[in-house]
Amino acid sequence: MRPSKKVRASKEVRPNDPASFPNRMDASIVVPKRSIPRFYGHGVPGVNLEKLPGKLIVVEGADGSGRSTQIARLVQWLEGCGHATTQVGLKRSTLVSEDLDQAQNGNILSRTTLSLFYATDFADQLENVILPALRSGFIVLADRYIYTLMVRDMVRGIDPEWLRNLYGIAVVPDAVFYLNVDPEQLVQRVFSKNQTLDYWESGMDLGLSRDMFDSFLQYQGRVRNQFKKIQATYGFTIIDGHRTMDDINAELRREIESVIAGR
Ligand SMILES: Nc1ncnc2c1ncn2[C@@H]1O[C@H](COP(=O)(O)OP(=O)(O)OP(=O)(O)O)[C@@H](O)[C@H]1O
Ligand SMILES: [Mg+2]
Repeated sequence: MRPSKKVRASKEVRPNDPASFPNRMDASIVVPKRSIPRFYGHGVPGVNLEKLPGKLIVVEGADGSGRSTQIARLVQWLEGCGHATTQVGLKRSTLVSEDLDQAQNGNILSRTTLSLFYATDFADQLENVILPALRSGFIVLADRYIYTLMVRDMVRGIDPEWLRNLYGIAVVPDAVFYLNVDPEQLVQRVFSKNQTLDYWESGMDLGLSRDMFDSFLQYQGRVRNQFKKIQATYGFTIIDGHRTMDDINAELRREIESVIAGR
């Protein structure tokens, strides 16, 4: 007997369609292809790079560009495919994240000190989360990485060479995706999510404009241009973030599948 159309449709598996996600449990698990990672510079002493079988995937993008939305979906998908995952992001270290918040609320630190504070937050997560997870074969998803930190500082006039040296401790990721969204659309998303703009994400410390809305547009425009400048050096994959969440996620999955398979 021929199966009805309805039965056939429900059994159809479309690997890149989020609606098909639960069906991924019966798919075979792709064991990540080994590749030897490297550090951008001097690295972390005592780390054996040959013993880091995990993968590091970075999602970069401005405030409100959709990073959290995409990472949450990627985690669900990757874990459903049998991969262990962990997540890192800015200001998430146990060492300094609370102090960093306090310092930013008080706006009492010089630019260089603030930069070093963020670098400390990154180094703590690198040593205590990223490297151990890579050693255990996890897929690490980073919600922003050293690039946002460098770009924010470059926009504030900090020497790029000093920054490159500072972040020479970082592991080179297996892939970096930059969610590209126009400042005009970002502002809409941030408003509808938070009903307000953030002082630092609007670059108010730079004195570009007394109007926060105007400052946000100018600052995010500068950050975006700076990202474009370093794109070739760091090899970001630029993802058009203006599309639907599903379309963006489908593209990210395709790209990450290739990374895991070592293509
Ligand atoms: N592709 C998209 N199209 C339209 N709206 C989106 C899209 N992706 C995310 N959003 C919405 O934009 C807002 C910001 O998304 P999200 O929180 O994922 O961004 P983020 O980059 O993590 O922001 P933050 O910098 O605040 O952490 C949310 O309200 C989300 O629902
Ligand atoms: Mg977020």
